[in-house]
Amino acid sequence: MVSSSAAGSRQQVFVLVGGTGDLAMRMLWPSLAMLDQDGFLSDNLRIISVAREDCGTEVCVDRIGNAVTKRVGESLEPGTLARFRKRIVHVALDAAKDDWGAKLKAELGDVDGLDVVFFLSVSPSLFKPICEHIERAGLNKAPNRVIIEKPIGRDLASSKVINDSVAHAFDESRTFRIDHYLGKETVQNLIALRFGNVVFEPLWNSQTIDHVQITIAETVGVGERLGYYDEYGAIRDMLQNHLLQLVCLLAMEPPSALSSDALRDEKVKVLRSLKPITVDNVKDHTARGQYGPGFADGHPVAGYEVEKGSPSNTETFVAIKAEIANWRWAGTPFYLRTGKCLPSRSTEIVIQFKPLPHSIFGSEAKANRLHIRLQPDEDISLTVMNKAPGLTAEGTHLQSLDLSLSLIKAFEGNGEKAPRRRIAYERLILDALQGNNAQFVRRDEVEAAWMWVDGIIDSWTKTSMKPQQYPAGTFGPVSGYRLIERDEGRTWND
Ligand code: BG6
Repeated sequence: MVSSSAAGSRQQVFVLVGGTGDLAMRMLWPSLAMLDQDGFLSDNLRIISVAREDCGTEVCVDRIGNAVTKRVGESLEPGTLARFRKRIVHVALDAAKDDWGAKLKAELGDVDGLDVVFFLSVSPSLFKPICEHIERAGLNKAPNRVIIEKPIGRDLASSKVINDSVAHAFDESRTFRIDHYLGKETVQNLIALRFGNVVFEPLWNSQTIDHVQITIAETVGVGERLGYYDEYGAIRDMLQNHLLQLVCLLAMEPPSALSSDALRDEKVKVLRSLKPITVDNVKDHTARGQYGPGFADGHPVAGYEVEKGSPSNTETFVAIKAEIANWRWAGTPFYLRTGKCLPSRSTEIVIQFKPLPHSIFGSEAKANRLHIRLQPDEDISLTVMNKAPGLTAEGTHLQSLDLSLSLIKAFEGNGEKAPRRRIAYERLILDALQGNNAQFVRRDEVEAAWMWVDGIIDSWTKTSMKPQQYPAGTFGPVSGYRLIERDEGRTWND
């Protein structure tokens, strides 16, 4: 947490480096505009868009206006865009040139009275030169801070190089590593659900929970990101970060407070407790797939290698049986999977409870299940057994009932308009502006996650485990099903 007294009285400036880039246009500018509309930006907050492109403020701001309208047009109120545009100035800077820092400093004015938040929405290869420019210009002093986003390396060694270069300019408390999954409403709700109720926590362990499943399924292929993706694959692009962050929130011990260190101390313990996957069990504990020809997202798909134009060993699907070696979770696996060109876009967590120790209702009694849906709809529902209403000659019959624990569903049920579904970046940008890094990823978390993932990739290499092709539009290769079905009574919740 950045000291609020240091930041409090200063004028805030948000410097968006990569301001004309794809992520900025799709997510960051719309998030900032919505924060402005909802009164979360201080009146005097200035926003500087930085990019190599010398398009001028006028053109840049027009593009931003279009991007905001495209993303959140339905929620825009009159006056929002006009007010928001006035905050923005575009500055053309080239990180390869020495004058980057001096030019930015000139634009910022009296830097001593400022509280500057840098968002580096650029390739990680530019983090080092940009942080050096910032440091040389003296713009790295507290309370100024920096937001960076994955990929933070493609293995432990390269992530250390990136983290070291950023650490030279900004200490850990002022380095905000975004994982946008942590800004999603239902992901934040996991903490509320687990630690705001007494009913779940006593059951939240291997005594009662049979297994946990987490699926992040996407219908899209890799599209224009092939160059990046081919270097990373599903395990580095999605599993090392988003999926493991979800595992942490589900598996961690209750933190002593909602403070950033209390939360992150517990998360890192989970990552360090992940049982290494080795050459001895990698074939049973992991599945790799790559989409071939098929039909997904409503379109014919030629297949990954055809799109690339050459053979590739990159996986577009990965499934892993993860085990957490501690008292709470020993014996309860977490099955994780993610992939591109799958039949549906859905992100969901299934907490599968154990069957009754002894059923007086025969086979009608199904085990309880907590189903947490993050995308496309948000919902949390608990499947419980009930007596089927009415009278039958055979006596009591059971039926299962899904109890929705979601506020969104409650609004809809009452015929009310649910609150606007926010872009995950809104929460995270607001937290960064306020200096609160609880929902950002600490360096030791990134490194512990890489250490585990490196072990898996290394075992793939040593055992020559290549991705198996699956037709686009299906849920991955057969090995993805075998991974879970090998364990008796378990199957994906497709
Ligand atoms: C990004 C990955 O981090 O997350 C993308 O790089 C992926 O490959 C995206 O498509 C998924 O995010 P969301 O919020 O749409 O589930």
